[in-house]
Amino acid sequence: MEKFTYYAPTEVVFGAGAEQSCPDYVKQYGGSRVLVVYGGGSVERSGLLNRVVRALEAAGLTVEQFGGAKPNPTVAHVREGIRRAVEFGADFILAMGGGSSIDTAKAIAHGTANPEHDIWSIWTREVPLERSLPIGVILTISAAGSEMSDSAVLTNEEIHRKRGINTRFNRVKFAIMNPELTYTLPKYQIACGTTDIMMHTLDRYFNPMENELTDALAEALLRTVIQFGTKALENPEDYQAQSELMWASSLSHNGLTGLGGKPDFAVHQLGHEISARFDLAHGASLAAVWGAWAEYVCPTKVSRFARYARNVWGVTETEDEKAAAEGIRKTVAYFGSLGMPTGFGKCIGIQSDETVRDMAYRCAYEGTRTIGTFRVLNEQDIYQIYSAANH
Ligand code: NZQ
Ligand code: ZN
Repeated sequence: MEKFTYYAPTEVVFGAGAEQSCPDYVKQYGGSRVLVVYGGGSVERSGLLNRVVRALEAAGLTVEQFGGAKPNPTVAHVREGIRRAVEFGADFILAMGGGSSIDTAKAIAHGTANPEHDIWSIWTREVPLERSLPIGVILTISAAGSEMSDSAVLTNEEIHRKRGINTRFNRVKFAIMNPELTYTLPKYQIACGTTDIMMHTLDRYFNPMENELTDALAEALLRTVIQFGTKALENPEDYQAQSELMWASSLSHNGLTGLGGKPDFAVHQLGHEISARFDLAHGASLAAVWGAWAEYVCPTKVSRFARYARNVWGVTETEDEKAAAEGIRKTVAYFGSLGMPTGFGKCIGIQSDETVRDMAYRCAYEGTRTIGTFRVLNEQDIYQIYSAANH
């Protein structure tokens, strides 16, 4: 095992009706003036926003609302949120929704605690982040895992850059997870979420290390998500299916399934370039490139892909090369069965060779970085993978 520290301090409050205890948790973590951050309106339509705001106010807390976080949340919207939070004197940020609302809330918390700096200069690490405000979450979609992760992702729409930062200040104080709150999700979002949950573990599992306990946890999580992703899609009001997905969403991205390894995350980097440029849903951007990535890197360590095929997909083939190929085929077919794209040409249109080269150039940060650990990929490798996914 590689050396590691494990820090996952978020208090998880799981189950039907869990949001009723929100005021207690806000108080426990020092909140008195609460900025509630949400997205495009699903929490208004479901009545959740109104219910929670009334409960917070009844508990003696002062509340201000800030909606409008879009999927692939933008820096411009975050700047507006910081302005509102500073004006209001917020001492606690409560996110209601999924990764986009949570990441917006994280960025607002960081920006409000550091009003002398522009938030993008914190994102690019020009300005080190040394303080933030406490953040709480009421989760309404199982997907990004932001409710327990140390990361947050923003898009700077002026320069078409999607960037994440990892910091302990991104760990939220509490995450309220009521699977029933996901019943109103459109099927496309359930599919995107299922894909993203799998990818947080796949991007850790395919790394150069082999650690039995971590690998076995990862395989169990993947089997569970594959099974219940299909069930949740068939019946979005299946409580068990939505519960399994919700808990998997958190465990998949709180570090657990990669401990002792060297997380790869190449597929996420490949996907970010696509969703920044074409505003494609995050999960869909990952499904669109995974198959091409897997085919490209598989020869680096066929035995790893063969183990994955056998332990996750129940492939019985004894020859490693055939088992590995079968595991890749089954994974891509599964994404297809969810209605996810398995190449990006299908959802954003076939791109010219010039565009694909530019995507590779930008994904490699203008040729200044490589991505991945399972196989380290340079700009030329990235170009080959994008080209193979351009269908
Ligand atoms: O905006 P509203 O109206 O709430 O609608 C949302 C949105 O349209 C809708 N939705 C959410 N819960 C719902 C619902 N609709 C009906 N009923 C409900 N219960 O679903 C749509 C997607 O929401 P979003 O928050 O964008 O989804 P997700 O959780 O997939 O978050 C995606 C964002 O998270 C980032 C992604 O890059 C993307 O920007 N990620 C954040 C990570 C992190 N911080 O650790 C890790 C991930 O890898 C990812 O990069
Ligand atoms: Zn993701």
